[in-house]
Parts: sequence; structure tokens; C-alpha cells
Amino acid sequence: MIVFDHMPVLLDEVVAALRPGDSQVFVDCTLGGGGHSAAILAAADCRVIGIDRDPTALEAARARLASFGDRFIAVRASFSELAAVLADAGLDRVDGILADIGVSSHQLDTADRGFSFRKSGPIDMRMDPDADLSAFTLVNDWPEAHLADVIKRYGEERHARRVARAIVAGRPWSDIAELGAAIAKVVGRGKGRIHPATRSFQGIRIAVNDELGELETLLAASINCLAADGRLAIITFHSLEDRIVKRFMVESAGKNLPRDAYGNLIGPVHLSLSKPVTPADSDPNPRARSARLRAARRLPWN
Ligand SMILES: C[S@@+](CC[C@H](N)C(=O)[O-])C[C@H]1O[C@@H](n2cnc3c(N)ncnc32)[C@H](O)[C@@H]1O
Repeated sequence: MIVFDHMPVLLDEVVAALRPGDSQVFVDCTLGGGGHSAAILAAADCRVIGIDRDPTALEAARARLASFGDRFIAVRASFSELAAVLADAGLDRVDGILADIGVSSHQLDTADRGFSFRKSGPIDMRMDPDADLSAFTLVNDWPEAHLADVIKRYGEERHARRVARAIVAGRPWSDIAELGAAIAKVVGRGKGRIHPATRSFQGIRIAVNDELGELETLLAASINCLAADGRLAIITFHSLEDRIVKRFMVESAGKNLPRDAYGNLIGPVHLSLSKPVTPADSDPNPRARSARLRAARRLPWN
């Protein structure tokens, strides 16, 4: 059995936001080790469809949640395929959708998966190990300008050009720890607490997994996949993701919609928003530090 070390963040807050009820159906779009799914299944006599594109996560979650029998099913897919996953399960709409965006601690800590500069290993970073694009291709084949662009845009690294130049000059790359050390040399230690390659690695990882594109597609699909009064709960870990979720929710709640001459909103209003939630300072989970939960309720269908 796989040992899947991942402590779920904001567990009670997620259950409070989703409000599971008997006979309801929820989708956990980022199943991981199944920590959030377990809490939802324990809260009511409901069903959960868990989605992940990482087969290791599916295997771990299936083992962990086996005692819930047919109340839980695990599906290998990208969460951008939410509508198709529901159709395959014979469902139009569900009572709640959760996404706990990003990588799991298991992915980060497994050297063979090539996510972290902390241990020698391949340069990979694919959540789906069968996906075509890996970080290996990106650092060894992509043009310097393209590399600089993702490191700047998705990593918000202000030394992106210099980092991209050093990556191209140091080709070929095969070891993730060596890549991390080379980037750290360019960026320098600075005053911050984080490792100097963190931002560049974030940028490369987001590009490899199309993380922001996946999030935008999921959010757009969620409106049609939620039953009236259904709940949407999204946990993000950095400002790029949170900005996308905030903009989507605010627009779906009608906040930025134009009004006609009589002050009536032009366009549909789909969501009612809850206040964003961040973990308590006392939260022992180091991953929780930067987490933010945004939740909303689907307004009745007309
Ligand atoms: C932060 S972990 C989730 C942890 C989980 N909530 C738990 O309690 O264990 C994120 C998981 O979502 C998966 N994931 C991220 N983006 C995905 C996407 N676009 N489609 C499917 N799975 C995705 C990752 O493979 C990873 O296993």
C-alpha cells in the first residue's frame, strides 16, 4: 500500500462550506490522499466522486476510503473535464464541488516525481505521469524567451531573464537538485525565507501542468454542474490562483456586471459568496500558511 503523506488544509472549514447532507453528491476535484473526501463522507450519508490525474493519488485514496463502499468512486481525469466525468457517472448536477489546488506533499516529497530541488532526481513535475510535456522538455528544449516568460508570469520571479539565460547556458539538464542549485546561484539568497529557486520552480511547474488554464476551465464549468443551492469551495495557495478564483466568483455574483438605465444588472447572477477563509495562525500544517478558501452557493436555476 502507498504511504501518502499529505495533511489536508482547512478541513473543518471545507466541510462547513460544503454542508454535506444525506443523499447528496459531491465532487472532490483534487482527491490527493483523500483527506477532504474522507471528511465529507464522514459528515453525512452522501456520495463523493473523487478526481485526480495522478494514478498514485487514486490508488492511495481508494485504499483509504474503501470502508465507504459505493458511496465513493475515484476517477482518473483532469478536473477541466468535470462535465464529462459527471456525464459518465450519469449525473447532470451535483450538490458540491471542491478543489484544493496545487501539488500534494506526496508529489513534492517523492524524488522520482522530479518536483523538488531538495533531492536528486529526474526533472519531471508532471502531475499526470503520462502527460506529453514534462519539465525536462521545458528546461532542455524550450527557447530562452519562452522559458523567461513562464518563469516571470507564473513564478513572478523578477530575475526571470537571468534565470532563463543560465538554464539555456547550462544545458543539458538531467538532475532536479542540480537545476535548483544553478537557479539559486543566479537569484541569490536575498532576505526572504524561501529557497531562491522556489519561484522559478513554481513557474515551470504551472506551465508543465497548465495549472491556471485547468482552474479557469473548472470554474467556468462549475456553474452548470451545480444544483440549485449547491456549494463551490476552492482552496488556493498563491496570488495568481486566488486572483482567478476571486475574479470568477465576484463576476458570477454580479458584482462587476454593468447595469441598465434603471439600475438593473445586465447579465445573469449565478452565485452568492461567502467570506474568504484563511487558516488560524495556530494551524500546525506548514502547507496551510498561504492557503485561502473561497466558497459560494449556487443560486436557484431559472
Ligand atoms: C493539494 S493536493 C489535494 C490533497 C487532498 N485534498 C487531500 O486531502 O489529500 C492536489 C491534488 O490534485 C491533483 N490535481 C491538481 N491539479 C489537477 C487537475 N487539473 N486535474 C486533476 N487533478 C489535479 C494533484 O495531482 C494532487 O493529487
